[in-house]
Amino acid sequence: MATQTGLPLFVLGRDADPHSEKGVDCPGELPPASDPDLVERARKAKEALGDRLFVLGHHYQRDEVIQFADVTGDSFKLARQAAARPEAEFIVFCGVHFMAESADILTAETQKVILPDLAAGCSMADMATFDQVEECWESLEDAGLADQVIPVTYMNSSADIKAFCGRNGGAVCTSSNAKRALDWAFERGEFKRGEKVLFLPDQHLGRNTAVLEMGMSLDDCVVWNPHRPNGGLTQEQLDRARMILWKGHCSVHGRFTAESVDDVRRRIPGVNVLVHPECKHEVVLKADHVGSTEHIIKMLEAAPAGSSWAIGTELNLVKRLAVMFPDKNVSFLDKTVCYCSTMNRIDLPHLVWALESLALGEVVNQITVDDDTAHWARVALDRMLALP
Ligand code: 13P
Ligand code: SF4
Repeated sequence: MATQTGLPLFVLGRDADPHSEKGVDCPGELPPASDPDLVERARKAKEALGDRLFVLGHHYQRDEVIQFADVTGDSFKLARQAAARPEAEFIVFCGVHFMAESADILTAETQKVILPDLAAGCSMADMATFDQVEECWESLEDAGLADQVIPVTYMNSSADIKAFCGRNGGAVCTSSNAKRALDWAFERGEFKRGEKVLFLPDQHLGRNTAVLEMGMSLDDCVVWNPHRPNGGLTQEQLDRARMILWKGHCSVHGRFTAESVDDVRRRIPGVNVLVHPECKHEVVLKADHVGSTEHIIKMLEAAPAGSSWAIGTELNLVKRLAVMFPDKNVSFLDKTVCYCSTMNRIDLPHLVWALESLALGEVVNQITVDDDTAHWARVALDRMLALP
């Protein structure tokens, strides 16, 4: 039986070819397979640029791209690494737009951040616009609650949402430090101890962290729907809530289901189910382990040979894990979930185009954040980077 990913029975055994997209029938078009000459062109352009260039690659990137990354990582590691090479004139960010914006904010004025394809956005980040968040904050002020609320935004948000959090005493978090960021918000904050957190824009990461890691109940959480007056919430609901979760989600991780966990357990006895915290609460509840992309890789590294793993995260990473750990049985958790189509926008032709343009002295697809937004977003990012 072929799945929508073209992988038989979900199992990505030791013979899995991470480069093969044959038979793949994904929602959303994948770019065509890359010309093999492009590998040599990318290598030459990279060599010509030498230390002037630093390439960052998120774990969800294609193999054909990730092979050229100087550093690979999850959002947190890449945010730290962006600032680690002040001598590099060009930071080519193989990831999505919000990551490149954060890199621009965290690097020096003289450094230029390049996103090889400007269409590499993130549907989750787009679910919280600045105007919507401002409107929400005004409603919280009208309800007499804004003074008690600390806004915390997931890294997967635009620079102006990060800046909003910076201006209002809040912070950024990633999937690897969400609990520490929430502890900070509830225990100390910068100016005040929060009674409540407005968590943007991923309701699932917010709920999973609050309930599974901080001992809150589901009743402590309410969902703010930006398309309804007053978020669709009553004063009483807002008064009682500790976590006000923005109604946003990841269109990739949001597709994993609790049934797929039951199904994989039936098919693979003793399987360890490991999922990303952007998955729905009911999926994370049924899983054995939860963690960021970096955490997922570390768990697989430490796992004993012969153990079986069903992974609920983006398919490029899961395929790579199957190849990296041929002594372990690595499966993809769900048959209806596919690549992140925006991450996949960065392919070898775009990377080669960006690198060759830079080598010829032409800066293409530079991502810049205006000074005021960058200042306040940096405040929120620095609060995250300072978390214990
Ligand atoms: P992490 O890299 O923080 O695990 O986030 C996953 C993700 O969805 C990035 O877009
Ligand atoms: Fe956005 Fe989800 Fe893709 Fe990450 S995996 S870039 S959160 S759509």
